[in-house]
Amino acid sequence: MEFRASDTPRLDWSGDGLAIGFFEDTVELTGDLADLDQKFSGVLQELIAETEFKGKLNTNAATRIGSNSPVRKLILVGLGKAEELELNTLRLAAAAIARLAKKEKCKSLGISLPVWQNNPDATTGAIVEGVELALYQDHRFKSESEDKVLLLEQVDLIGLAGQEAAIDRAKKITSGVKLARELVAAPANAVTPITLAETAENLAKEYGLNVEILEKEDCEKLGMGAFLGVAQASDLPPKFIHLTYKPVGTPRKKLAIIGKGLTFDSGGLNIKGAGSGIEMMKIDMGGAAATFGAAKAIAQLKPDVEVHFISAATENMISGRAIHPGDVLKASNGKTIEVNNTDAEGRLTLADALVFADKLGVDAIVDLATLTGACVVALGDDIAGLWSLDDNVANQLLAAAQTTGEKIWRMPMEEKYFDGLKSIVADMKNTGPRAGGSITAALFLKQFVKETPWAHLDVAGPVWTEKESGYNNAGATGYGVRTLVNWVLS
Ligand code: BES
Ligand code: MN
Ligand code: ZN
Repeated sequence: MEFRASDTPRLDWSGDGLAIGFFEDTVELTGDLADLDQKFSGVLQELIAETEFKGKLNTNAATRIGSNSPVRKLILVGLGKAEELELNTLRLAAAAIARLAKKEKCKSLGISLPVWQNNPDATTGAIVEGVELALYQDHRFKSESEDKVLLLEQVDLIGLAGQEAAIDRAKKITSGVKLARELVAAPANAVTPITLAETAENLAKEYGLNVEILEKEDCEKLGMGAFLGVAQASDLPPKFIHLTYKPVGTPRKKLAIIGKGLTFDSGGLNIKGAGSGIEMMKIDMGGAAATFGAAKAIAQLKPDVEVHFISAATENMISGRAIHPGDVLKASNGKTIEVNNTDAEGRLTLADALVFADKLGVDAIVDLATLTGACVVALGDDIAGLWSLDDNVANQLLAAAQTTGEKIWRMPMEEKYFDGLKSIVADMKNTGPRAGGSITAALFLKQFVKETPWAHLDVAGPVWTEKESGYNNAGATGYGVRTLVNWVLS
């Protein structure tokens, strides 16, 4: 699929599908729209009347134009009130248009949407993202499929002439989102700690990143007892993955991104029971997926920022070698942890990853983790929780997410709740009471960061969706990649 920044006015555009955005209650056919209606023998006016199309948000209409017309299908999308237009509205409109164009078997598509806040650059990016992400399909695990070939070949962005660079940028970003989706959607017998490390190595090879894979013995030498405790029951070797992007010249800043990389979470001996969603626990590397998706995008975008991409990858399994509930582990900063629940394993792997990142001398660390069901209870499936003691980093992340449609809500770091993690035998337990479970998880992580400004994102909800919605299809969403990219570039 090729995008073109088109200088053809919509009145003169010809092709399979022409899509036009309308603001609410301003569905008047004046100016070039009157000419367009005339050119289409009144079909535009007819479509608006017949469908009672008013330009309301999340509404659309489509029809066929007569066979002699230079445009075969006409698509209208509602954008809501003009003064309330958000960038993500355009991304969602583009997604809706792309889905209609696919349904209508269009090979070529012209998209005419308004420019958001006099910013053709951001507008172009949002439209390309909406189309690319909505039309993404993953047939890797199907033997055959109905719609393997996508008919849509050509997408013209009408009114966005000269925006080639923005198109290029958006395609680099969506390539990262797609990688994250592929990694999350793949089952645990396809994405393992070994293949996750290979993915990182392939990214390094293809885009010129540095890669370092710490094997079990290397992690032992660093004293990563928390990470290795989680890994010890698995038949697969743990892999501590460290990818680095370094710009040419002196970096403007240095950042670290850490992703929870549990390629499967059985719960360990505190095994997840029936109805717990254990069969979904391939998604427990959603943080790592976002991290490597961001790496793929950043490596192509080449900002003047040094970025470390880290994941302590393993499975949480059961076997005769499994940690017992109640075992005490020692993390690489020397702190001891009583594992009162083996299903709170993500924070154990993150503990050693945070200690590692803290020693890199970066300006800020962000971790993303499918960490707690409690965060999903608090914020639902669409919103990630954000914890940070550093208002700067917290606000940077909120700002980075602002226009992406990736929702983040800041949560409290209620220090008092750390009482719930007090242990009689060790420095702390890994699990507190049920109430406030996502907060105690964040407080636990905080024990492993000394000086570096740090933020934690609990992404247990938004990395997966059961239903198609907007630019997401049912399945993995690739959540986090676009926010991370914006954060790095900011
Ligand atoms: N990977 C899970 C959290 C999770 C839940 C991710 C739902 C995605 C969807 C995590 O390792 C876990 O098991 N957390 C426990 C913590 C508890 C034992 C303190 C939980 O949330 O129940
Ligand atoms: Mn768990
Ligand atoms: Zn987990």
